[in-house]
Amino acid sequence: MIRFVLVVATVVFGLNGPLRADSALPWPLVIGHRGASGLLPEHTVEAYALAIAQGAHFIEPDLVSTRDGVLIARHENELSDTTDVADKFPDRKTTRVIDGREVTGWFAEDFTIQEIRTLRAIQRLPFRDQSKNGKFGIPTFDEVLALVKRESVARGRSIGLYPETKHPTYHQSIGLALEAPLMGALERAGLTQKSDWVFIQSFEVENLRALNEMTGLRLVQLLGFGAETPFDQEARGTGLTYEDMITNVGLSDIAAYADGIGPWKVLIVPQDRDGNPFPATDLISRAHNVGLLVHAYTFRDEARYLMKPYNNDPVAEYQRFFSLGLDGVFTDFPYTAVRALP
Ligand code: G3P
Ligand code: CA
Repeated sequence: MIRFVLVVATVVFGLNGPLRADSALPWPLVIGHRGASGLLPEHTVEAYALAIAQGAHFIEPDLVSTRDGVLIARHENELSDTTDVADKFPDRKTTRVIDGREVTGWFAEDFTIQEIRTLRAIQRLPFRDQSKNGKFGIPTFDEVLALVKRESVARGRSIGLYPETKHPTYHQSIGLALEAPLMGALERAGLTQKSDWVFIQSFEVENLRALNEMTGLRLVQLLGFGAETPFDQEARGTGLTYEDMITNVGLSDIAAYADGIGPWKVLIVPQDRDGNPFPATDLISRAHNVGLLVHAYTFRDEARYLMKPYNNDPVAEYQRFFSLGLDGVFTDFPYTAVRALP
């Protein structure tokens, strides 16, 4: 019977079942940040598929919720920077307080999934290709999962998923908590254990602590800069800052509920205001000492994002970080990161 199941699974999924870690994770990991978002409008099926075609090991959907509780892939719950919502629903503009800050625009939580399906993605950044604006839809998390499974089978290699819960405290406050639907979708896809190719990430702390009790999947604590405070910690008044979190004590605390950290790359190689780098910090080795992986964000080809010595040579920038022992990169240009792999 077991043999029969194995044969069927092999025929259906190929030798590496979709997202299943039959072998160790690649090192270092290439994570398609919002898909191949340097080339196509971010968080679209097309941008994720291109990242996979370019060799990304994982793709990264940021998640927010619709009014009817469906998880969709967007970097913000405010939709006007990356969709045509302002043209399609001009009268739905409003103002909300998100993470303690007033934001005016169009919010995913005010729209049903049916309405979201009428929207089309647009390119956020004016200096990137605008020719695909209006062509691609806004995917649900289920659709991203289906894409990853489909591509894993078609390519005969596991492709991982790296979802991020966006504004978890805010979503909880409006009755649209992200964690339960996220867990539900992953469980339905059979993704429940550490060996599965899934990392769940958050800039907040408490939802990761809660997720650590809910799932065996790997968790990653994202880290902002310096004196910034994760919003859930601000709301609780703990005073915990990202600066605190990268001390040895802070890293040990993170290791109690997470498997890795996701720092801004400048926390590894600091730079001055003009992009001139200082010597590397010891963050990677101190994180490794307490068993944490380190996946840094965000690597981009354009000269405006590169540190000064790497102007026009993004491969050299990746190689510098890989030589420091970095375990993975979030990149808008997976093709370039793959070229730089050791
Ligand atoms: O999640 C890693 C990186 O994506 C964090 O930055 O703002 O692009 O979600 P952001
Ligand atoms: Ca993200």
